[in-house]
Amino acid sequence: MNKNILILTGSPRKNGNSDMLADAFMKGAQEKGHIVNKIEMAKLNISGCNACEMCWTKDRACVQCDDMTKIEPLLESADMLVLVSPLYFFGISAQLKAAVDRFCAYCVGSCKKSLNIKESALIMCGECDEERFFSGAIDTYKYTADYMKWKDRGILIATSVSAKGDVLQGDWLTKAKAFGTSI
Ligand SMILES: Cc1cc2nc3c(=O)[nH]c(=O)nc-3n(C[C@H](O)[C@H](O)[C@H](O)COP(=O)(O)O)c2cc1C
Repeated sequence: MNKNILILTGSPRKNGNSDMLADAFMKGAQEKGHIVNKIEMAKLNISGCNACEMCWTKDRACVQCDDMTKIEPLLESADMLVLVSPLYFFGISAQLKAAVDRFCAYCVGSCKKSLNIKESALIMCGECDEERFFSGAIDTYKYTADYMKWKDRGILIATSVSAKGDVLQGDWLTKAKAFGTSI
């Protein structure tokens, strides 16, 4: 069955390494007939959660008026969520984390629109040459998926990827495309 896949990317670097991984995954998933939307968090203005506990008290998920409203309809219609980020100080980028923290509105008792996301995946890249340096980000993703009741469809970690275009070396993009095709 064709899925509606939402990819949220976290890098501010246009056509950077993680962006290319996201595009390769998207190509693979589209070849399988899935509908894929990719949104770059760094192009949006999304603040972190204010912990004000005012979710859904207005006619929307959050009282903050920012670009989160642009991704909410896509979030609410997605079957699968793919988080794509460069490794920034052993975690996902702040731009992506801010959006993830705002999922809080969909976890409160007063939630008026539930998410239909059933599955998720994580794609990351970083300068470090060993996957263990990504463990903080991987744990964050795994606990989040577990908490949100998303089935983890896999994690792709591209190591030793630093300068723009480094991801073209090796077979990272082939792996990312195959990952997309596997969905
Ligand atoms: C603010 C910042 C923090 C970073 N922190 C790490 C890190 O903790 N570990 C690592 O391996 N690479 C780190 N990097 C390197 C990036 O993860 C790496 O260059 C990556 O390929 C960038 O992906 P992009 O082209 O998609 O932006 C950092 C880069 C920046 C700008």
